[in-house]
Amino acid sequence: MVGPASVACAWRREVVIIGVFARPVFLENLSKLIVADMAAVDRVIRERLHSEVALIRQVAEYIIGSGGKRLRPALVLLSAGALGYRGSSHHTLAAVVEFIHTATLLHDDVVDESALRRGRPTANTLFGNAASVLVGDFVYSRAFQMMVDVDDMRVLRVLADATNVIAEGEVLQLMNCRNVDIDEDSYLRVIRYKTAKLFEAASRLGALLAGAPPAVEAAMAAYGSHLGTAFQLIDDVLDYSGDAGVIGKNVGDDLAEGKPTLPLIRVIQHGTPGEAALVRGALASGGLDELDRVLAAIRSSGALDYTRRQAAAEADAARAALDGIPSTQYRDSLLQLASFAVTRTH
Ligand code: IPE
Ligand code: IPE
Ligand code: MG
Ligand code: MG
Repeated sequence: MVGPASVACAWRREVVIIGVFARPVFLENLSKLIVADMAAVDRVIRERLHSEVALIRQVAEYIIGSGGKRLRPALVLLSAGALGYRGSSHHTLAAVVEFIHTATLLHDDVVDESALRRGRPTANTLFGNAASVLVGDFVYSRAFQMMVDVDDMRVLRVLADATNVIAEGEVLQLMNCRNVDIDEDSYLRVIRYKTAKLFEAASRLGALLAGAPPAVEAAMAAYGSHLGTAFQLIDDVLDYSGDAGVIGKNVGDDLAEGKPTLPLIRVIQHGTPGEAALVRGALASGGLDELDRVLAAIRSSGALDYTRRQAAAEADAARAALDGIPSTQYRDSLLQLASFAVTRTH
C-alpha cells in the first residue's frame, strides 16, 4: 500500500532498495566485546515485538528487520560493562532504548516525509502514515511495559524524561522549519533534545544498573550527551555529502523539508552574500530545486568542514568525560565509539 504522503512527494524522491542494511565493519569490530550481549538483546527485541495484531507485527518487524547500527543498545551494554555490572537487566534496557529509537524513527519519517531508511522504502511509504504513527505508538508503549519490568524508579525516570525531551526536540524542530534566522545555539538545543538525550539516557542507564556513584553516573551521562550531539552533527553533514546507497537515506532530505541544520546555518551566517542569499531562498521555499547550487555553496563556504569540526569538539568532550572511568576494554570501546561518531560514513 502506498500512502497519500508518499504519492505527494514521490516526484522528489528516488527510492533505492539495497536490502537489509548492514552495520559498519568498524562497529562490528568495536562490539566484539559485547557480541553475546548483543545477541541476547536481539532475542529480547524479537520476543517483545510480538503482537496478536498482524499489521503491528508486519510494520514493526519490517523496520526492526531492516537492521540499523544498534548504537544505543551498544551504549547501554558498554557503559554497564565499563562499571562492572553483573546481571541481565541491561539486555532489557538495551532493547528498550532501541524500541524508543525505533518508535521515533517511525514517527520522524512521517513528519519528515522521508522515503528511504536503512536502505529500504520507509514504513510510511509502504504501509502509509497512519500505520507508521500507530505502530510507533505500539513500540513506544511496549518499551514502557518493558522498563517497568526492571522495577527501578530511577530507570523509569531517566527513560520517561528522555522520551519527553525527544518529543520536545522534534516539536522545536518543527517550529523552526524553514526558519532562515535560527542561530547555532537554537539548533544545538534541537539536536541535544531530539538525538543526544537518548544517547545520554542509554549511557546513564549502564551506570545506574551498576550502582555507580553520582559523579560517575553524571560522567557517563555527559559522555552520551556529547557523543549524541557529535553523531547528529555528522548526520547533518551526511545529509549533504553522503551517498544514499551508503547512508541508506536520501541525500537532500533536510533541505527538502526546510530543516535549518548547521551546514545551512553556517552558510547563511558566514558565506558570501551570494551564497547566503541562495541558501536562505532554498531553505525558505523547501524542495530540492536548488539542491546542486546549495551543495556548491555549502562546499565553497567551508560549512561542512565547520560542522565536522564542531562534531570533533563534541567527540573530544565525550572522551574527556570518561577520564575518571577505570581503564577497561569497555571504556576503550566507548572511546572508539566517539571517534566513529565523527568518521562514520553511515
Ligand atoms: C538515525 O539514527 C536518527 C538520528 C539520530 C540521526 P541512527 O543513524 O542511529 O539510525 P539506525 O538505527 O542506525 O538506522
Ligand atoms: C533524527 O532526526 C532524530 C529523531 C528521529 C528523533 P532526523 O530527522 O535528522 O534523522 P534522520 O535523518 O531522519 O535519520
Ligand atoms: Mg528525519
Ligand atoms: Mg538527518
